[in-house]
Amino acid sequence: MKELAVSAICNGTVIDQIDSKRTFIVSEILRLHEEEREVLVGINLSSKKLKKKGIIKIEGKNLTRSEVNKIALIAPDATLNIIQNYEVVKKLQVELPDIIEGLVKCINPNCVSNHQTVENKIHVAGKNPVKLRCHYCERLMGVKDIELIETFIY
Ligand code: CTP
Repeated sequence: MKELAVSAICNGTVIDQIDSKRTFIVSEILRLHEEEREVLVGINLSSKKLKKKGIIKIEGKNLTRSEVNKIALIAPDATLNIIQNYEVVKKLQVELPDIIEGLVKCINPNCVSNHQTVENKIHVAGKNPVKLRCHYCERLMGVKDIELIETFIY
């Protein structure tokens, strides 16, 4: 059996092929620091596909669609590995849907979505690299502009 840089998990999800420098951002947006579950994180690991990759292993967790969308926003190359009884039973590539709602704030301060209670709605104009377009004011946003609607209180 090959040796793993980060220990194997028994049941749960492995987020692999994360752009290494974004690993902790992914961990933060998933609020893994608030979980009771065991979480293993590796960064600057060698990878065939990326220069250096990050990896996050979450024992006992199945990701929701909204959590997968958050990962796809920050780490569009990430793969998800579903682990059951130490075996990889499913492997999938994260992918954003064509429209995301209630997730990313429009960066245009004059946009109606920042002033009135309209449903937040953003079109995904590019998935990798991520390019977003506000449904209301059509402002274009790249990954550096992303501000999630949820606020973090530490
Ligand atoms: N993994 C784990 N616990 C297990 C089984 C696998 O943490 N019980 C992790 C491995 O460390 C790896 C990922 O899940 O990061 C995918 O495992 P596997 O498909 O065996 O690895 P590779 O073939 O290297 O994956 P890839 O498709 O990315 O090449």
